[in-house]
Amino acid sequence: MSVQPRHPVKVPVCVYAPDDADGRASALGFGDRILCQHVPTWEADDRFHHADGDVALILSDDGRCTPLGVASVSTALRRPGSALPTRSTQVYLRPGHESRLGELVASLVDTEGTELWIRPENQQMIHLIQRRWPAAYNCRRLHLMLTELPVDTEPLATRALDPSNPEDVAAVVRVNNSAFAEHPDQAGMTAESVQKKLRELGHSAEGVRLAIIDGVVNGFCWTQIHHDRSLGEISVIGLHPDVHGRGLGGPMTAAGLRWLHDQGLRQAILYVEAHNEPAVRSYHRLGFVTVHDDVSWMIPGGAPGAEAGP
Ligand SMILES: CC(C)(COP(=O)(O)OP(=O)(O)OC[C@H]1O[C@@H](n2cnc3c(N)ncnc32)[C@H](O)[C@@H]1OP(=O)(O)O)[C@@H](O)C(=O)NCCC(=O)NCCS
Repeated sequence: MSVQPRHPVKVPVCVYAPDDADGRASALGFGDRILCQHVPTWEADDRFHHADGDVALILSDDGRCTPLGVASVSTALRRPGSALPTRSTQVYLRPGHESRLGELVASLVDTEGTELWIRPENQQMIHLIQRRWPAAYNCRRLHLMLTELPVDTEPLATRALDPSNPEDVAAVVRVNNSAFAEHPDQAGMTAESVQKKLRELGHSAEGVRLAIIDGVVNGFCWTQIHHDRSLGEISVIGLHPDVHGRGLGGPMTAAGLRWLHDQGLRQAILYVEAHNEPAVRSYHRLGFVTVHDDVSWMIPGGAPGAEAGP
């Protein structure tokens, strides 16, 4: 599996890129099945962003593959024994090596600025970040929301995306780039990135529901099914701004939820920016409840302050 992180790292690390949920769980638990590869520096131009697996760094003690700690950035990881994923930056250290927390986190930070997801209750990490990088600031807050399936709301009529039809793909790009013009993750979609996202989601384009509103494709809902099929996910839902404010957000989401339910899923989750009031209200109406929040801290580029210990 190829891993293309953007960040050059400052300490020797090993990269772990699990192929499946089972491998991931054993890696996080420091089990026997850790797969790792020693990578002294990273020069690639991509972000830590992998729909095909979560990325962890394993701090190497000796330049070989002695795992002392595991960390991951900006991914939705599932902790062993936990029913729901979390988008927090996960950091695990072997007992006796806790003093290396700062070093491990520092290995994630690069000169261009780094976004770390930290659960609000993880005070140890927050204190570490604030001490070591005084310029760090709160950047985003996401609700992880969950609902049981099916939901009562009548869905919009939808059809599947046909990825071989350039008009369909262009419609998705048009709606996406209008609906998410300012969004940090979602803006700037291209025909190529539609195809890439389809490959990452790992199921057929049937799970991408398109709604014809006012005679054209003006809405979509991308769904996702987790590896172990325990959860469905609304990966992204958007309406063209021309049709906002007409009460269609809930029914558009319900169309994705209906598809997930038809695939046998009994629960669905989604992540939403806490300040996105129309979206949050739509989801509440559908029966979604907030399970927890994930908050991101931005460590600005070139902010060293690295002399303080962990
Ligand atoms: C989020 C989105 C799907 C909501 O759909 P919508 O059709 O515009 O919204 P609705 O008309 O269904 O309104 C939903 C609720 O938000 C409220 N609302 C609408 N605009 C609002 C605004 N600007 N500020 C606060 N509340 C607002 C409505 O009153 C309604 O509340 P209610 O359910 O209590 O009556 C749509 O705005 C959209 O595509 N936005 C851009 C993409 C996006 O943010 N997607 C969600 C990512 S998770």
